[in-house]
Amino acid sequence: MCEIVPVIGSTSKLYHSLLCYKLKVYNPLHMKILMVCLGNICRSPLAQGIMEEKIRSRKLEWEVDSCGTGSWHIGENPDPRSIQVARQNNMDISNQRARQFKRSDLDQYDYILTMDTQNYNDLRRQANKDNISKIRLIMDFQYPGENRIVPDPYFHGGFEKVFQILDDVCDHFIEHHQVKN
Ligand code: 4NP
Repeated sequence: MCEIVPVIGSTSKLYHSLLCYKLKVYNPLHMKILMVCLGNICRSPLAQGIMEEKIRSRKLEWEVDSCGTGSWHIGENPDPRSIQVARQNNMDISNQRARQFKRSDLDQYDYILTMDTQNYNDLRRQANKDNISKIRLIMDFQYPGENRIVPDPYFHGGFEKVFQILDDVCDHFIEHHQVKN
């Protein structure tokens, strides 16, 4: 996947969609984003909820989902501490259900945004040459090349900090794509 950073508005949306289709690149007007962590109960549900909220408020036609590389929490709601910090920030993520990453996700999504280097490396091992570049460390959109991670709050807490980190980096991700409606 190669990356184009368009300035939407200077060309018609229809023309833009056709161009993306022709060039076989993702269309930033209709992006599909997958947030990935280890358990899919702490960080990636927050990342999903935060990105969904920003998508809604900016009227973007993007889709976002989340999953975990591990299987321990399949079918569970987010960790109560994630639900609580989301609620404190006027977001409800309590309806989310954990699922495990599957190889076909690599073809279904345009961006696969991992929370830490363990998730990143786990997914890269399952990728092929056509989809490996979709897998990114989410923090790279704010701190390119620094290999920063979103710290795992499951054992030692820090959910409010994680919320703020994700809120900031989601803004940078959107800004990076320069989507203007
Ligand atoms: P997450 O956090 O990857 O942000 O959802 C974790 C959740 C559960 C476990 C580890 C991390 N666990 O070991 O069960």
